[in-house]
Amino acid sequence: MPLQTLESDKDNYWWKKAVFYQIYPRSFQDSNFDGVGDLKGIISRLDYLNDGTTNSLGVDAIWFSPFFKSPEFDYGYDIVDYCDIDPRYGTLADFDRLLEEAHRRNIMVVLDLVVNHTSYLHPWFLESRSSRDNAKRDWYVWKDGKGRKRKPPNNWRTHFFGSAWTWDEKTQQYYLHSFLKEQPDLNWYNPEVREAVGDVIHFWLGRGVDGFRLDVAHHYCKDRQFRNNPPFFIRDRGLDKTRLSDRTLMANIMKLLALPTMQYGKYNQHQPETHQVLKEFRHIFDSYQAKTSVGEILGDDAALVASYYGEKNDELHMNFYFELANCRWKAGAFRRCIERWERNLPENAWPAQTFSNHDLVRAISRYDHGGNGDKRARLLMLILLTLRGTPFIYYGEEIAMKEVKLAKNQLKDPVGVKWYPVHRGRDGCRTPMQWDDSNYAGFSNSAPWLPVGSELSRRSVAAQQNDPNSQFSLVRELIRLRKSLPALLEGSYSSVTEGVSADCFCYLRETDQQKIMVCVNFSFRRQNADPGSLNGESRIIFSTEPERELEIINFPLTLEPGEGCIIDLSMAK
Ligand code: NOJ
Repeated sequence: MPLQTLESDKDNYWWKKAVFYQIYPRSFQDSNFDGVGDLKGIISRLDYLNDGTTNSLGVDAIWFSPFFKSPEFDYGYDIVDYCDIDPRYGTLADFDRLLEEAHRRNIMVVLDLVVNHTSYLHPWFLESRSSRDNAKRDWYVWKDGKGRKRKPPNNWRTHFFGSAWTWDEKTQQYYLHSFLKEQPDLNWYNPEVREAVGDVIHFWLGRGVDGFRLDVAHHYCKDRQFRNNPPFFIRDRGLDKTRLSDRTLMANIMKLLALPTMQYGKYNQHQPETHQVLKEFRHIFDSYQAKTSVGEILGDDAALVASYYGEKNDELHMNFYFELANCRWKAGAFRRCIERWERNLPENAWPAQTFSNHDLVRAISRYDHGGNGDKRARLLMLILLTLRGTPFIYYGEEIAMKEVKLAKNQLKDPVGVKWYPVHRGRDGCRTPMQWDDSNYAGFSNSAPWLPVGSELSRRSVAAQQNDPNSQFSLVRELIRLRKSLPALLEGSYSSVTEGVSADCFCYLRETDQQKIMVCVNFSFRRQNADPGSLNGESRIIFSTEPERELEIINFPLTLEPGEGCIIDLSMAK
C-alpha cells in the first residue's frame, strides 16, 4: 500500500484529519423538557464535545441523524420538507445558531441526506399519487400490477418487512418503497428529481454546512427492467469472500433472515447508474470549498462498496465498510476484514471507520460475552482511533453506554414493534445520552421518549469526566494522541503477523518519518509479540491498561490479557 499523504491544501481535507461524532438528535439533550432532544439542547452541549481545551472530548465534526420535518414513521428518515427543521427539534434559526456555535468551536457539521425515499406525506409524493397524469407522477416508481389478479410487479422485498410494492387504490398502480410503505422511493432516472435534490444540497451547503452522510446511497437507481431478485444464496462470481465467515453468528443470522428478506438484492440496489448520481453530487460538493460526503453503502462485497469512490475518485469522499462492525471477537477476523477493505480500496480512497451507529446494537454490548464488554470497548476505541481513515464515534460510546433492553411496550422503532421478540429493533442503541445519574440522566426533566439506561453512577459523563481511568478519559486521550501523531493521521496501514500470536491484532501505521505499531490482545492470556524485523528500542506511548508503565521496551513485547498498546517504533532500527 503506497503511503498516503495529505494534500497540500490542508483545509480542503479537514475531514481526513477529523474525528467525527454521530448525534442522534432525539436522544442527545432535551432543552424544553418534552422528552425529545432538540437543537437548543445540542448547542448547550457543544462545549462537552470540543471547547478548545483538553477538558473536552476533542472531536472535530458532528454527523447529525436527520432533524428535518418528518412524521417520524422511521424517526426522521422519512422527510416531508428537506429544507426545514422539524418543530420537535427547533427552527431554522436554531439550526443557524447551532452551525455558528459549532463552527466557533472548530466543529464541522455534516447532515444526513435521505433521498433514496421521501415521506409518503412529502408534497412531491402527494402530487405524484394524486393522478396518473400529474406532472410529478414519474418522480416516484409506479408500476401496474401483474396479470388479472394485479399482483406486485416483481418479487422485491423491503429491508424491513414484506413486499417493496404498495397498491394505490386511487390510481390503481403500485409504488415502490425499499423501506416502510410510508417511505416511497424516488425515481432517480427522472432529471427533475436530480435537480430538486441538487437544490436541497445547495440549500444546506450554501447555508454553511460542511457535508452530508448519504443514507442508503446504493439504493438510488433500480434495474430498468425490474427483474426479479434471485434467492439470497446466488451471488456473483469474483466476490472477494475471504472469510466472510468471520462474521458474528448474529450477523450471519441477520443476513439470512433479513437481507433484504431472503433474497439477494441484485436488481433493486447497487445498479451502475447510481454512480452517475454520485458524480453529480460530487460536482456540487466540489463547487464549494472544503465539503465532504460519507456514504452508507451496505454490502459485504468490499470491491463493490469501494466502487462508490468512483474510478477517478469522483464520487464519495469517504465510505464505511460495515462488515467491520459484524466481525467475531477474533483478532484474525478483524485483521482479515481490514485487509479486505484496504485491498479493495482504490488508490487515494479515504476510508471511514465505525463500530456503532443508530442501526446497530452498541458494540460494547455486541461483544459483551462473559461480561467482557467494558474491556473490549476500550480495545475497540483504540482500534477505531488508530486505523487508517476517519473514525466515527457514536454518541455515548465514549462513556461506555450500553444497549438498553426494552420491553415490547417501550419500543418505538417499527422494526422492533413488528418483529419482537425475534428482533427488538433499533431503540436499544438510541436511548438518551447519559450525562449524570439524576432521574433522567441529565437528558431531560421529564420522561424521555425512550427509557434511560442503567448504571448511571458509572456510565455517565459526570462519573467519568474526572476519572483518569474511565472510558471517557481513554477516548479523549486517544483523540489527542491521534492528532499529535502524523503516522496515525496520514500513514499507511499494514498488518503485522510475523512473530505475533493469532490472538493478537497488530498493525503498522507509517509515514516517512514515523513508524507506529498498534498491538491488541484479543485473548484472556498474556501474549508476546515479537515481530522479528523490529529490533532495537521502542517506546510504549499508550496502553488500555491503566497500570501499564509507558516505557522504553525491547521486543518481545508482552501484552496483558485484553490489553492494547500503541508503540512508537521510530527509534527502532
Ligand atoms: C438507513 C438508516 O441508517 C436507517 O436508520 C433508516 O431506517 C434507513 N436508512 C431508511 O432510511
